[in-house]
Amino acid sequence: MSETALVTEVLHGHVACWTLNRPKQLNALNGALIAALGKMVEEVQQRDEVRCIVLTGSGEKAFVAGADIKEFANFNSAEGRELAERGQRTLFDAIALSAKPFVAAVGGFALGGGLELALSCHVRIASGNARMGLPEVTLGLIPGYGGTQRLSRIIGRGRAMEMILSARMIKAEEALTNGLVSKVVEREALLEEALKMAGKLAANSPKALQAAIHAVQASGSPEGYEVEIDQFGRCFANEDFKEGVAAFLEKRKPEFPGR
Ligand code: CAA
Repeated sequence: MSETALVTEVLHGHVACWTLNRPKQLNALNGALIAALGKMVEEVQQRDEVRCIVLTGSGEKAFVAGADIKEFANFNSAEGRELAERGQRTLFDAIALSAKPFVAAVGGFALGGGLELALSCHVRIASGNARMGLPEVTLGLIPGYGGTQRLSRIIGRGRAMEMILSARMIKAEEALTNGLVSKVVEREALLEEALKMAGKLAANSPKALQAAIHAVQASGSPEGYEVEIDQFGRCFANEDFKEGVAAFLEKRKPEFPGR
């Protein structure tokens, strides 16, 4: 187990569980937290022992209640733009385009930048007490960490538009119905379920996971099908492919080398 002031890591086999640690501020994303997490996302790409990451928040009340409002309260337009751009590049896009999948375990509030963080993860599981929304318009802002784009892609433009314009918080059941989360479980079971899901992902070929993330992220773009063809072809060059097929033919479980 390694620790920084703001994010704690616990390893469970090939799964790293990262907990954001600002519970008194409902894990609001300040610059330091974004930088710490962004650095971990970058470094984990080189760590062969980690094949999937679970992201969660500390405390009972929140996954993450958003970007830190106190920190940007006096920003001007240029500083606001820089906040969104730096955050998107160093953290939100870095997670979305990570070669290793991220599973968000959403307990309690996931608002603004908090929901956007969950949206940048590849799989989302929520507890029954989860409340999700993009309330930025109540502050005179719009979502700045990818929310207008990712929420629209995940639940559809009409539903996203309504959620963003109304700033309405939705409950876990609605999030399940509209595809925002894959599963809803009891609060006490949230981490266990997320780790179970992450364990399933981590048992698959790391090279194939990377290729799949790349291809799915290209969905909706004009070159999406071309990206899929290209990534499919590349998989055949990997040792993981040889092992996967050999294991199938030998009727055993594969042991993917991740190469
Ligand atoms: N930024 C900074 N501090 C925050 C915060 C945030 N986003 N959310 C909560 N906190 C702080 C509160 O200020 C409070 O701190 P103090 O005790 O020092 O005053 C502490 O966390 C506990 O919060 P509350 O007392 O408000 O708790 P509550 O249970 O009454 O309400 C809540 C919970 C409904 C989540 C409420 O805290 C809230 O509305 N938070 C703000 C949500 C929000 O607007 N998020 C969007 C932020 S903007 C953004 O994210 C922009 C972007 O896309 C880039």
